[in-house]
Amino acid sequence: MIWTVVVLIIFIFLIWKALEDEENPLDSLPGPERKPIIGAALRFVNLNTREMFIKLREYHAMYGNRFVVKIFKRRVLHLSNEKDAEVVLSHSKNIKKSKGYTFLSPWLGSGLLLSTGFKWHSRRKILTPTFHFNILKSFLEIIKDKSCDLVKRLEEYRGEEVDLMPVISDFTLYTICETAMGTQLDSDKSAETKEYKMAILQIASLLLNRLTKVWLHNDLIFDQLTVGRKFQKCLKQVHSFAHNVIVERKRQRASGRDYSVVAEDVFGRKKRLAMLDLLLEAEEKNEIDFEGIMDEVNTFMFEGHDTTAVALTFSLMLVAEDDQVQDRIYKELQGIFGDSDRRPTISDVAEMKYLEAVVKETLRLYPSVPFIAREITEDFMLDDLNIKKGSEVVVHIYDLHRRKELFADPEKFQPDRFLNGELKHPYSFVPFSAGPRNCIGQRFAMLEMKCVLSEICRSFRLEPRTKGWRPTLVAEMLLRPNEPIHVKFIKRKQS
Ligand code: HEM
Repeated sequence: MIWTVVVLIIFIFLIWKALEDEENPLDSLPGPERKPIIGAALRFVNLNTREMFIKLREYHAMYGNRFVVKIFKRRVLHLSNEKDAEVVLSHSKNIKKSKGYTFLSPWLGSGLLLSTGFKWHSRRKILTPTFHFNILKSFLEIIKDKSCDLVKRLEEYRGEEVDLMPVISDFTLYTICETAMGTQLDSDKSAETKEYKMAILQIASLLLNRLTKVWLHNDLIFDQLTVGRKFQKCLKQVHSFAHNVIVERKRQRASGRDYSVVAEDVFGRKKRLAMLDLLLEAEEKNEIDFEGIMDEVNTFMFEGHDTTAVALTFSLMLVAEDDQVQDRIYKELQGIFGDSDRRPTISDVAEMKYLEAVVKETLRLYPSVPFIAREITEDFMLDDLNIKKGSEVVVHIYDLHRRKELFADPEKFQPDRFLNGELKHPYSFVPFSAGPRNCIGQRFAMLEMKCVLSEICRSFRLEPRTKGWRPTLVAEMLLRPNEPIHVKFIKRKQS
C-alpha cells in the first residue's frame, strides 16, 4: 500500500514538473489564445500543411510582425520584419536549427545543413572554396549540357502542355548529381543508378509525409510502420550508392588519375571536376573523414535539387504569364547572343541582368525556403524583449517579402524592382537567408537558374495553360505548388 502511494506521489510530481511553466517575456506578445496548460494546442489539432500555411498567414494579418504561438510549455516566436530578421539571422551564436529538421538527420547526418557549433564552423570553412568563382566556371559545363538536354526533352512535347515539376526536378537532380558526385544519373542506365534516382525522390516525399502527420513523428512508431520501413529501405539504397561512388573515386585518385582537372575516363568520356573531388582533397589533408564526406554529398544532393526545382517551376509559370517580361528577356538574350546558337559562357550569364531580376522577383514572391527556424541557445535581446535560451524563433521569409513598406504593390510580379536602385533594407530580401548560416550554394543556384532559363527562353516562346491562374501553396520545408503547373513551350525557330 505504502509503495502505491509513493509511486502515485512521484507520478503526480513528475506530471506537475512537466507542466510547470515559468514566466516568460514572450508572453507579453500577441498570439492565439493561451489556455491554461495546453496553450493554443487545440487550434493546431488535425491541420494539414496547407491549412497550417493559411492559419499562419491569418495570424500574421491579425497580430502583425511579431507573435507567439504557445503549445503546452513550448513557445515559438514568429517574426516577419526586416529588423528582427537581421537580429536573428546575423547572430553569431544562435545558429542551431530547430527540432523540425531532425527527421532529416538519418539521411544528412551532421552535414552542413544540420550541424552546429564547432563542427559546423570547421565544415563551412572547408566547403566554402567549393563554390569559388573558378570552380563554378567548371560546373557551368555540366549545367550547360543538362540545360541542352532539357531543351531537347521539352521539344518532344511539340507545344503540348508540360507538367513542369517532374520534368524540372529531373533536370535539377541530374545537374546536382553530376556536379556533386560526378555521376550521370540520366545516361548511366545501371540498375543501381535507376534505384538511386527513385530512392532520392521517394525519400523526399516520405519525409514530407512524416512532417505533416503528427503520429509519424515518434521514431519508435514510424520505424514499425510500412512508411518507416520504406524510408529505411530508400535510405539504405541512397547511402550505399553514395558510399560506392566515393570509394570508386578514391580508388581512381589513388591509382594516379587526378580528377581535379577535366580528364577522360577509360571509355573516352569526359570526367569533370565534382564537389566530391574537393572533399577528397580535404580528406587527404585530414580536414574531413569518410563519414563527413558522405554527409556533405548527401546534403548537397538534398539542398541542391528541390530548392532550385521549385524556384524554376515558379519562374517558368510567371514568365509564361507575362508577354512583356518574356519579350524583355528575349531581347536581352538577343543582345548577348545575336542569332548565334553558341552556349553561354560565365560572362554571358553575368550580363543577363534582366533575367537575374526575373529570378529574384520569383524568389521574392515564392521563396523556395519560406521560413527559417532556430532553437535559441543563448539569450538575446529583440529591442527591449529578452528572448530566452530554449525558445524557438521562426523567421517567415514569405511574409517578409510581401511587406508593403518594403515592396510597393507586393503581390505583383515586377522584376524591375530589382533593377531600379537599392533595396530598402539589407534584410528585406533574403531568399538564401543571410548572416553566418546563409545558403552556401546561392551562387551555384543563381548560375544554374539563369543558364537554364536563358536556354529555354532562347529556344521557346512560353504560354500558360490559363492566364491569371495561380496554384494554391503548401509550405513544408519548401514552398510548393499544391496543384500541377502546366506551361506550353512553342519552338521559336525550326532547326
Ligand atoms: C533556389 C535555390 C536555393 C534556395 C532558395 C536556397 C535557400 C537556402 C536557405 C534559405 C538556407 C538557410 C536554411 C536555414 O537556415 O534553415 C540554405 C542553406 C543551405 N543551402 Fe541553399 N538554397 C538553394 C540552393 C542550394 C544549392 C544549389 C545548394 C548546393 C549546391 C545549396 C546548399 C545549401 C547548404 C549546404 C545549406 C546549409 C548552409 C549552412 O547551414 O551553413 N542550396 N539554402
